[in-house]
This record gives sequence, C-alpha cells and structure tokens, in this order.
Amino acid sequence: MGNLYKNCKIQDNTAELIYENGSLFVTIFENNIVHVAQKHGIESVAIEEDFIPKAATPDVTCKDTSDAKGTAAEAGVSDAAVKAVISARDITVNVKDNEKLDIYYKGKLVLSDYETARKKSEKNPYEDLAIAELEGHTVGKDEEKTDAVTIIKKLGKDDAIYGLGDKPGCLNKRGYSYVNWNTDDPAPHVDSFKSLYKSIPFFIVLGDEYCYGIFADNTYKTTFDFGYENTDYYFVEHEKGELDYYFMPGNDMAEVVGLYTSLTGTTPLYQRWIYGSHQSRWGYYTQDEVLDIADKFRELDIPCDVIHMDIDYMNGYRVFTFDDKKFPDVKGLSEKLADRGVKLISIIDPGVKKDEDYFMYKEGMEMDAFAHDTDGSVYENAVWPGTSVFPDFTKQSVRSWWGDKTKILLEHGISGIWNDMNEPASFNGPLPDDVQFEYGAHEKVHNIYGHFMAKATYEGLAKNDGGKRPFVLTRAAYAGSQKYCGGWTGDNHSIWAHIALSLEQVCNLSVSGLAMCGSDIGGFGSDTTPELLVRFYEAAVFVPFFRNHSAMGTRRQEPWQFDETTIDAVRKTVKLRYRFIPYIYDLAHECEKTGAPIVRPLVYEYHADKHVRNISDEYMLGSFVLVAPVIAPGKEAREVYLPDGDWYDYYTGEKYSGGRYILADAPLDKVPVFIKAGAIIPVADGEIRSTEDITEDKISILTYPGKGSFVHYQDDNETFAYRNGAYNAVEYTLDGDKLEKKVLHKGL
Ligand code: GLC
Repeated sequence: MGNLYKNCKIQDNTAELIYENGSLFVTIFENNIVHVAQKHGIESVAIEEDFIPKAATPDVTCKDTSDAKGTAAEAGVSDAAVKAVISARDITVNVKDNEKLDIYYKGKLVLSDYETARKKSEKNPYEDLAIAELEGHTVGKDEEKTDAVTIIKKLGKDDAIYGLGDKPGCLNKRGYSYVNWNTDDPAPHVDSFKSLYKSIPFFIVLGDEYCYGIFADNTYKTTFDFGYENTDYYFVEHEKGELDYYFMPGNDMAEVVGLYTSLTGTTPLYQRWIYGSHQSRWGYYTQDEVLDIADKFRELDIPCDVIHMDIDYMNGYRVFTFDDKKFPDVKGLSEKLADRGVKLISIIDPGVKKDEDYFMYKEGMEMDAFAHDTDGSVYENAVWPGTSVFPDFTKQSVRSWWGDKTKILLEHGISGIWNDMNEPASFNGPLPDDVQFEYGAHEKVHNIYGHFMAKATYEGLAKNDGGKRPFVLTRAAYAGSQKYCGGWTGDNHSIWAHIALSLEQVCNLSVSGLAMCGSDIGGFGSDTTPELLVRFYEAAVFVPFFRNHSAMGTRRQEPWQFDETTIDAVRKTVKLRYRFIPYIYDLAHECEKTGAPIVRPLVYEYHADKHVRNISDEYMLGSFVLVAPVIAPGKEAREVYLPDGDWYDYYTGEKYSGGRYILADAPLDKVPVFIKAGAIIPVADGEIRSTEDITEDKISILTYPGKGSFVHYQDDNETFAYRNGAYNAVEYTLDGDKLEKKVLHKGL
C-alpha cells in the first residue's frame, strides 16, 4: 500500500494528513459530523485557508466544511500503525499509513476501513454472456475503470442498511448492490433494478450497538455494494472524481437523519393544500375535461385539492406554452377551479423544442443556454416535442431565465410545477458522457441535472409567486434536492407488486431526506382493477404526496370509472386522510425544523427491535400512527406487527399490547390503523371538500390514554410569514386521560 504518510497539520477543526501522493482532509463539525476529503495529485502542501475543502458538489450541502464552526481538532501520534489521532467533540479518528481510518464515536469504534483488497469472486468466462442473455443485450467489453475511487468499510455481522432514495427492492439494502445513475426505464420496476430516477448517495448503517450515516458526495456514476460481493465489507465506488464523504454518528436513526438533513437541508413546509388529494392523468385532453374532473369529485363527495395538467395542455409539447384550441383559457379554468377549492399544477419538462419560431428556443440560443457537443455545437436529442435541446441548469444565468418563465404559468393561475424527464431522459439514445455543461461533462452532471432544474423552478416560483411557498415536484433528484422539491417515484405500474414497492420507496426516500414523496396511486402504466385501485389508495393514505396518476392508453382510473363499492372505499380512504391533515401538517412543520420525516419505516421509531428491520408493508405517520395496508388481492384480514407498547385499533378502540403480531380485520374498505398509547392527534371533522374547508372550528384533539406530548401548529397555510413569527404553537401533554395545554407561541 504505497501511499506513505508524511505529516499532519491542523487548522481549526480540520486536519490535513499529508501523504506521498496527496492529502487527506478530515474535518470534525460541531455536531460530530466528520467530513473526509481526499485530494490526490497535488503537491504535499500544508493547510491553507483556501485549501480546506469546500463541499464537493455546489448547492447540495447547506454549510461548507470551511464554514463549519469547528471545535479545534487535536492531533497526536499513538503507535507505529496509527500515524495520527485526531479528536474533537465525541469523535476520535485514527489515521494510518495507507490512508485508512478508524472512527470512534463516544469512545466506541464505529467505522473502520476494510484494509485488505476486495475479495471479488472469480468470473466464469461465460458469465458476461449469460448476463447479457438475461438482460437482453450483447456482450460489451468490461471497461477498465482506471479513475475509479472506492470507499470500503467493514460491515458488521448484523448491520442493516437503509436510505439511497428510490432504489427498488427491500427496505433493508444489506446484501444488495445498486448504481447511482438517474434512469428512466418504463419496464415495471422490480427488485433487480440497480438504478431508478434518483441518485441520493446517502445511507444509514444500523448495527446492534451503533447507528451512523454515510453521505458520499460525488455525482459520477457510483456503485454501492452492501455486502453483496462479500459479507465482510460494503463499498461505494465512484467511476471518477475524488473521495469525499461525511460520516454521521447518532444514537438512533432519528439523530442520523437529523444530521444528514442539517447538512443537506430539510424538506420544507409546503402550502397546506399540497397535503390534500391530487388527481392526474396523462390524457386530460381539454380544459373542459379538467373542470369536469373537479366537478365529479365534488358531486361524489370525494375531497380533492389539486388537478395536474400533463403534457397535453401544451402547444406541441413546447414548454411554457398552451394549446390554444384545447386549453384556450387556462386562466379562466383556474378561476373556476378556485371556486371549487381546487388548484392546478402543470408539468414542465427540460427539453426545449428545436424550432426557430419558438421563443424558448430563440431566447435560449441567443443567451447560450443549452448544453453543447464537444465540437461546440448545441447538443440535440429527442423528447416529446421531437428534436430538442437541453438547458444547462448548472449555469446561474440559465436558472434565472428559466425560473422567470414560471411567471407565464403563474399568470395562468397555475399554483405548482411538476418537473419530469429530468434525468435527463432522451429518446435517441442516452446523452453521451462528454456533452458539455458549465459544471462539467455529462458524466459529472447527469445525476445532478434534475436537482438543478428543480432549483431553477423553485427559485423562479419563490421570486414570482407573491411570497407563497413554492411547490415543485420532480422525478430526478440528488442529495439535498429536498430543499427545492418533492419527488414522486416515476412510472410504476398497476400491479400488486407496486403497492409494496411504493411503500419501500417512500420509507427509504423519507429517511434519505426527501420527505415529500409518494407514488402514482393506482399505478401509472398497465391497467388497474377496482380492487387494486382501492388498495393503492389505502396504502398511500398517509403518504405525504398523494396523487392518482395514470398513463395515456391505460384503463382510466378516476374512482368513478368503477362501481359504487369502489367509489365508497376510495371516498372513505380519502376522507380518512383529510381527517388527519392537521396532524400531517404539524409533522411537516416539524420535518422542516428537525428533518424528522413525516412518514417513517417502523425501524426509524423502533430501531432496537430486530423484528422491524425489514418491515415496509407497515409504516408510521409520525410516532403515533401505524398503518398496515393490504397489499395483495382477495384479502379480508392481514397480520400486523405491533412494536412494543400499547396500541389502540383506530376504528374499534380495542387495546392491544405490542411486541407481537396480531390479525387485523381488513375488508376492502378498511385500511388497518393503530394508534400508540399516549397519542395526541389533531384531526379535522365536518364537511370537508378540500383543505380550504379545514378551518379552526373543525379541528379537535384526539387522545389515547398514556403518556405523551405533542405540539400543534397553525399558520396562514400559504406564505412564509410563519418564519417571522406569524404562527401559533400549542403544546399538549397527556398523562393517563388528563390532557394539559400550554401556549408556546401566539403570533396569529
Ligand atoms: C413520464 C412521466 C409521467 C408522465 C409522462 C407524460 O413518463 O413519468 O408521469 O405522465 O411522462 O408526460
């Protein structure tokens, strides 16, 4: 391991460990986050002000390492193997000759580099052929990844692994491998998919005696192997770039997620209507049809807050335009919808149609807004509008230009923007690795393209929407995107396996910082059945982003496409959600403050309980509510694991002691819900057609005997005024049956 250690310099909270071939920087933040950044190929220089590494990727972290108020690190030398010992706060880092580290948290060894070479299994010469046959492609030559950099850490025998955003498969990612490369694949997503739309290089390792997060900030294509190649270690391999990662230790998952979101940003509190029910379909062809949809929800007494306009509303799929025959008066439409308490969200894709007469193309060409080929010409590919060019959202001037176009939508009464196809997806083969953006080549920009598009959209809305909290929905994302957008899980299908998948994804997205998330209810591709639709609604009942969406050409799936039984069951489910919206809103506010996700896997709340490490067909809404949806056809009951403690059946009030499985009654129109003893839950009752109807007089506090406390929060549901004190906060404390109330803040 010829990377010999020479020397160590300390400045404030950063240690520079100088090796023969470069330096390793170790910074210890005030909150015990450890940032490790390798700078190879540099002269060995002592630490200097502008040499302390900044965050590797701009706009991802909220604080730069160099800004972190350090608690001074100290260095010492212990023995021959350990060349330097750096310590601050609860952290001690032992650094070795070969750039390997051991990190101790509160005196306990938590993270260790795996020091021997990876033990790859021998490849059979026909293996590539077999894989190619299974995956339906021809054998390509294995490319030598000469520039790859790898983090390899020891994997504890009982470590479970969570996070990584929307990756399919089990909740616990141990034993699997994945690739971060934003991918739009319309085939039904199954466990063996390595990549999907989002690349969030953050994961949590939960051992029996420790819990920590790793955020590996590098946007190049990255492989994660969590004990798949070998059970002794896990590794993160970036195809290019430098090693740059953060270690975040905590006593539990909540602390680790708290640290990660303190670094990359929390999911903000949205306008309250965002938490309502959304209806969408690729294929609402006229504005009259959109209005009819809203009317039908009202007629059937199914609450609804939002209708999405998919690409059908545009003129030839040109972004920021309207089809003047089918959508001649979107402003008028939005006003009529507003009378019914319904808002409009519209889709905007990144691809700009190559059309000399189209203002977006003309303006973009004039200002050099689009990505280039290596020969300097504007790069072209095809998306919905045909030949298209791709805005370089890594450029500030392009983001401002694009952001200002949101005015066009706002003037038509549109209240939120849905960003799609921003992996970026392309129909004439993938963008070559060397397409040029300001921030770098496509191979470096790909995984962060959607992030910068969402940022442009968010900032445009923030500037132009009269102080309202922007809502951007995205398909592609990177770490930290949660500051700018919520995300949905893309093109799922109307199949039973995708109800289960949606919950695995929502649970992992939630602990990966993207707490405003959800899947297409009913399934996007393929044809739904009435029973599947109902169970999809029930599974999503408390999922933060709640939208029925389907693809053109599939069976329509608005609830009224089916019989009364279906309509009744959907109505019941949507009403249950609306009843809990005050609680959801409180949790969303808490999430903005602390990063605690709105929806959580059971393991987030009960990490010491080994039974819950892979449960994702049940989830928690906050810490009080457990939902156990039916995710298979023909069921009338399901087994439910209740963690330790006392629980109440939400419907019957029956009390159960936890730490065991029970059988819950689950006919078609019922999603099993259990409430923890000591719960305090603000709910809304009365006639509610949309969140607008949830007025103060309709809110009451549900309690379930036990010990608990909860802060109920109110603001204007719309603007940022709460950040200047325009909110009320009341703390409730429950002891047995006795509920006490204390006003914490009165600003409304
Ligand atoms: C993509 C989106 C989908 C949308 C369609 C048409 O497939 O994922 O939600 O309906 O494009 O815009």
